Amino acid sequence: MSNESTTSSQTISSVLNEQRLFPPPRKFTEAARIKAADLAALQRRADADPVGYWADLARAEIAWRKLFTQTLDDSAAPNYRWFADGELNVSWNCLDVHLAEHGHRTAIIFEGEPGDVRELSYRQLHAEVCRFANALKARGVRRGDRVVIYMPLVPEAVVAMQACARIGAIHSVVFGGFSALSLKDRIEDAGARCVITADGGRRGGNIVELKTATDKALAEGCPSVETVFVLRRTGEAVAMQAGRDVWWHDAIVDQPAACEPEWVDAEHPLFLLYTSGSTGRPKGIQHASAGYLLNAKLTNRWVFDLHHDDVFWCTADVGWITGHSYVAYGPLAAGATIVMYEGAPTYPDGARFWRMCEQHGVTIFYTAPTAIRALMKLGEELPARHDLSKLRLLGSVGEPINPEAWMWYHRVIGKERCPIVDTWWQTETGAILISPIPGVTATKPGSCTRPLPGIFADIVDDEGRSVTTPGAGGYLVIRKPWPSMLRTIWGDNERYLKTYWEKFHNRFYVAGDSAHRDADGYFWIMGRIDDVLNVAGHRLGTMEIESALVAHPRIAEAAVVGRQHEIKGESVFAFVVCRGARPAGDTRDFERELREWVAEQLGAIAKPDDIRFADNLPKTRSGKIMRRLLRAIARGEPITQDVSTLENPAIIEQLRGQS
Ligand code: WTA
Repeated sequence: MSNESTTSSQTISSVLNEQRLFPPPRKFTEAARIKAADLAALQRRADADPVGYWADLARAEIAWRKLFTQTLDDSAAPNYRWFADGELNVSWNCLDVHLAEHGHRTAIIFEGEPGDVRELSYRQLHAEVCRFANALKARGVRRGDRVVIYMPLVPEAVVAMQACARIGAIHSVVFGGFSALSLKDRIEDAGARCVITADGGRRGGNIVELKTATDKALAEGCPSVETVFVLRRTGEAVAMQAGRDVWWHDAIVDQPAACEPEWVDAEHPLFLLYTSGSTGRPKGIQHASAGYLLNAKLTNRWVFDLHHDDVFWCTADVGWITGHSYVAYGPLAAGATIVMYEGAPTYPDGARFWRMCEQHGVTIFYTAPTAIRALMKLGEELPARHDLSKLRLLGSVGEPINPEAWMWYHRVIGKERCPIVDTWWQTETGAILISPIPGVTATKPGSCTRPLPGIFADIVDDEGRSVTTPGAGGYLVIRKPWPSMLRTIWGDNERYLKTYWEKFHNRFYVAGDSAHRDADGYFWIMGRIDDVLNVAGHRLGTMEIESALVAHPRIAEAAVVGRQHEIKGESVFAFVVCRGARPAGDTRDFERELREWVAEQLGAIAKPDDIRFADNLPKTRSGKIMRRLLRAIARGEPITQDVSTLENPAIIEQLRGQS
């Protein structure tokens, strides 16, 4: 491999030595939707005729307005199209299809950070979605228009997404933790006609001022925006601009609770979701309607074994892909009851999650390793105070889960009774691709096990040859297209081709992760191979943070790398070169200023934990920053690179913070 993984070598070796095997408990298997014979049959069918396999599933799982006749169109590969001449509506498939028989069933159990609880049945959710869809239409939002959603994690965020889907508008949710400037960039890139926000959200006892940030974003540009819908959540006073801003409750007050869906082509874009890559600009990952819906629905059933009496809590915010596929769309398409929680996991104390699991009778719990590690650190007494006996299945997503956290999750939360599904996937893949099937697959702590049927994942070397030697690393690739794959990058198909396909001449999708397989064919993800960090399960581009730093008037140059972090997995480590002399003496105030600067530019999640000042940065002869060297320095690891070409070898001592 030409590039090393960003995962610490320590994690890789501890994962490599992992020998423990956990077969699914018999009781779980007996009641599971997918048993060994079912999985084998799916696998056989998928292997024998992958396109026919997806066609069968799409016919069975999606309520079509007009059934498709062509399954896969690869005439413009790698811009694949699925079920292209079919017509459907995604919101219809998530809501209307349940009304006749299950309209009374609870769709959403919501808990706000202050403790307010609200439940919505499928019928109520449907009515809310229709009302808001009508409100969007009344403000001129039409099929194909882009709508940016910048909201707290409250039911209205799901209502807003579903309402866009209902009228064929393309939403782009921007995580509420992103700054006004990040919001502005995304609104402008998407050319959004409308923004949906709230007066604020609650997090960790504080108020996140979403409307203020929206105003700031719009004041700086965003000429395409005509309307701003504002949900009242905190009750704080906010400025409302006449003609542009409208309160959510005013907008829906006269709207009927029915709205004929806009029937769209299968390939009609359902949403854009911006994510970080290896350049300074986030990319708008574009998903299509039918293919996305299919994999989101199926994986909810297969991986989370959803039954009608389950209460499914995926803790992700709708600002991330996980909150799209496992909160706003997939579980609703599968007719499940979901839990949503607005606030911080440790508010008012570290028992919040466990108290909520008990109170709402959560049966399936899906979260990120960073949350597990943070809660693990608080000790076993907190979960022990709560009755977690309803839990039957646990999930993990976002980064490799270290075996210690896996074992804690298994023992302390799952009481050794709940299988753990470690699910690998990405914003780009739309849905889970590699994961255990909980009633069938024996799990190993730290491995996402095997690809789902129909997903042809492989690990290849630099020449694209399959790496079959157990333990040998390589590029994680997907050999055949699948329905929920991204279609393109919004407004930049070149970048789509370059980022995901060019390396191996369009032969397979390149995920950007490195991985290896063990002797049983289990996949072990080692981390990103590009310049993307994974901080607390969130993707951050090093280039984005570097651009933010150099935008500061006193900074001339910056290089950002990741270092291992006990809870966040990785943290941001920045090396910076100032204009003029290197700051001397106590630099803490200036470091604080730079952190705040980054938070303002990008969002608090991108703040560097460490900042080190240097006279210059180590570069190769061609002028590329020697990131590997910087990474070794940030991590306190020995330097193995050739540093003889460095102009100023003494710089290494300086970068180490020793001179
Ligand atoms: C990482 C999140 C190991 C991986 C759904 C991937 C994982 C990136 C896992 C995508 C996992 C996600 N094990 N690594 N189970 N799940 N990743 O787009 O590096 O926010 O490429 O999607 O997270 O992050 P994204």
